[in-house]
Amino acid sequence: MIKAVLTGHTRGLGAAIARNLLARNVSVLAIARHRNAELGARHPELLQQVELDLADPAALQDWLESGAQHRFFSDSTTALLINNAGVLQPIGPAGTLDITAVGRAVALNVATPLILASAMIAATNKLSDRRILHVSSGAAQNAYPGWSIYCASKAALDHHARCLALEETDSLRVCSLAPGVIDTDMQTEIRACTEKQFPPREKFVALKNERQLALPADAAARLVAYLLSQKFGQTAVTDLRTLPDVNLR
Ligand SMILES: NC(=O)c1ccc[n+]([C@@H]2O[C@H](COP(=O)([O-])OP(=O)(O)OC[C@H]3O[C@@H](n4cnc5c(N)ncnc54)[C@H](OP(=O)(O)O)[C@@H]3O)[C@@H](O)[C@H]2O)c1
Repeated sequence: MIKAVLTGHTRGLGAAIARNLLARNVSVLAIARHRNAELGARHPELLQQVELDLADPAALQDWLESGAQHRFFSDSTTALLINNAGVLQPIGPAGTLDITAVGRAVALNVATPLILASAMIAATNKLSDRRILHVSSGAAQNAYPGWSIYCASKAALDHHARCLALEETDSLRVCSLAPGVIDTDMQTEIRACTEKQFPPREKFVALKNERQLALPADAAARLVAYLLSQKFGQTAVTDLRTLPDVNLR
C-alpha cells in the first residue's frame, strides 16, 4: 500500500498534489493549519487531515512524539513524504524584514521539512521503498533581490537533498524539485508587492498576463508521476520543467 505524508494540502500546488494522489488511491496524511473540506468530503477513507502550524517547531515535535506519523506508515509498503508547505514572506530588502516573520519562514521552509524527513526515515526503516520530495524553487538556484529569506530557505532544501543522497540510506530516494511558476496564492502575493520590496515584480506580472503560469493540476500531475516513477531520485536536485519524459498517467 502506498501512503503519503503531505504538507500544505489546503490550497495551491499542495491541494492539487493531494487530489492527484487520492485519485490514484494513495492514502494521504495531510498537514496544514486548516482543513481541505472538499477533499475531506470526497475521500473520507483515504484522507487523514492534521491541523498544525508547521512554523511552530514545538507543535511539530508534540505531533511527532504522539507517534502519529509512525502509526500512519506502519502498514505501508511504499512511504512518501512530500514537503510542500512553504511561504514567500517576508519579502523586502534585508534590514526591513519583520524578525518574527523571518523566524517563522525559516521554521516552515527549512526546519519542518528537515525534521519531517528525519522522522520519516526513522519511522520507515523496515520498508523497501521510501521517497522524500522537497518542493523547492528556481529561487534556490537563482538569487532575487527582496527574496533573501525565501531563496536561502529553498537553497537549504536542495543542499539537504544532496547530503541525504550521499548517505545512501537503504531504500531511500530523495529529490528537491523546483515545480515551475504556478498560478497560486503565492503568485498573487508576488504581484501584490511593491517594486521597492521586490524589484523584479514586473516579470511576474507579465508571466500572469501572458498566461505563462502553470495550472496547479498540471504541475501536480507531473510531480506525482515523477515521484512514483522509477526515475525518482536519480538526481538529488531537479526542475519539473526540464524533466524529459515524465509519464503523466
Ligand atoms: N506558486 C509558485 O509559483 C511556486 C514556485 C516555486 C515553488 N513553489 C513552492 O511550492 C510550494 C507550494 O506553493 P503554493 O504556491 O501552492 O503556495 P500557497 O498557495 O501559498 O499554499 C501554501 C500551502 O502551505 C500551507 N501553509 C502555509 N503556512 C503554513 C503553516 N504555518 N503551517 C502549515 N501549513 C502552512 C498552506 O495551508 P494553510 O494556510 O491551511 O496552513 C497552503 O496549503 C511552496 O513550497 C512554494 O515555495 C511555488
